Amino acid sequence: MDSAQIRQRFLDFFASRGHTTIPSASLILDDPTLLFVNAGMVPFKPYFLGQQSPSFPRATSVQKCVRTTDIEEVGKTTRHASFFQMAGNFSFGDYFKEQAIPLAWELLTAPVDQGGYGFSPDRIWATVYHDDDEAARIWHEVVGLPKERIQRRGMADNFWSMGVPGPCGPCSEIYYDRGPAYGREGGPVADEDRFLEVWNLVFMQFERGEGPAKEGYEILGDLPARNIDTGMGLERMAALLQGVDNIYEIDTSQLVVDRASALSGQAYGADPDDDVLLRVVADHTRTAAMLVGDGVLPGNEGRGYVLRRMMRRVVRSMRLL
Ligand code: GLY
Repeated sequence: MDSAQIRQRFLDFFASRGHTTIPSASLILDDPTLLFVNAGMVPFKPYFLGQQSPSFPRATSVQKCVRTTDIEEVGKTTRHASFFQMAGNFSFGDYFKEQAIPLAWELLTAPVDQGGYGFSPDRIWATVYHDDDEAARIWHEVVGLPKERIQRRGMADNFWSMGVPGPCGPCSEIYYDRGPAYGREGGPVADEDRFLEVWNLVFMQFERGEGPAKEGYEILGDLPARNIDTGMGLERMAALLQGVDNIYEIDTSQLVVDRASALSGQAYGADPDDDVLLRVVADHTRTAAMLVGDGVLPGNEGRGYVLRRMMRRVVRSMRLL
């Protein structure tokens, strides 16, 4: 299944279940807390906070995202990217956990000829926030996931916010077991390369204050309503559905790897160090193109500096190759 089909299948599934399809917003939004849009929910933040009312109770989108915090990991692992597309379904005070979890399960496991992604249910694991008995119960009793494939984790892993003051809540992450060739037994708590996170379901119900990005920040109180915000990584899904080893080898990125390989004369797969460089080129050129497309120009500060850094790292990688 190519990336365009994966994207369309997601939108069609949720549109046919009462969600309004919203086009991706620009990577640059008027939000002083963020350099770039870094999650599918960012354009909907005023709805979660109750600052604006949407004209639709449910939405679905595939949002362009840039995250630069893990830039040093890009190319070295199988799953880190600075640009990615996040497919999401959203409820603004409409449905909550009891519908969000079965909906995700249905899309992942329904056969391909019935509009799903056709994953084997035996390969799927879920994590829940350590005290979220309700999500664990839904996974087990409603969906039928065996208890031993539901793991509990703390705030750093299973409580989601944008890393800054704003909406937040406990989350349930869905993982796909790629098999023993990719790592050890024990589920996502043991090995996140073998057990690849594909989808995060956030039960958005609190507002957070200042503090560290991931854990230990203050919870200011409840949001006006209980909401759903999910994020499925399109490139990770593509790697699984296209049977390739990592997100740089999927249909859309492989084109860039092939071009960089042809220009440099270094074949992909011949040398592990060169492969890292080719993957950096594939990732960063995509990010740079998307940033330029949304109006960023190379510069010495802020967004322009991020773009400049990306471009410099591409040039350096190509020189080394
Ligand atoms: N907003 C959910 C996520 O980014 O994982």
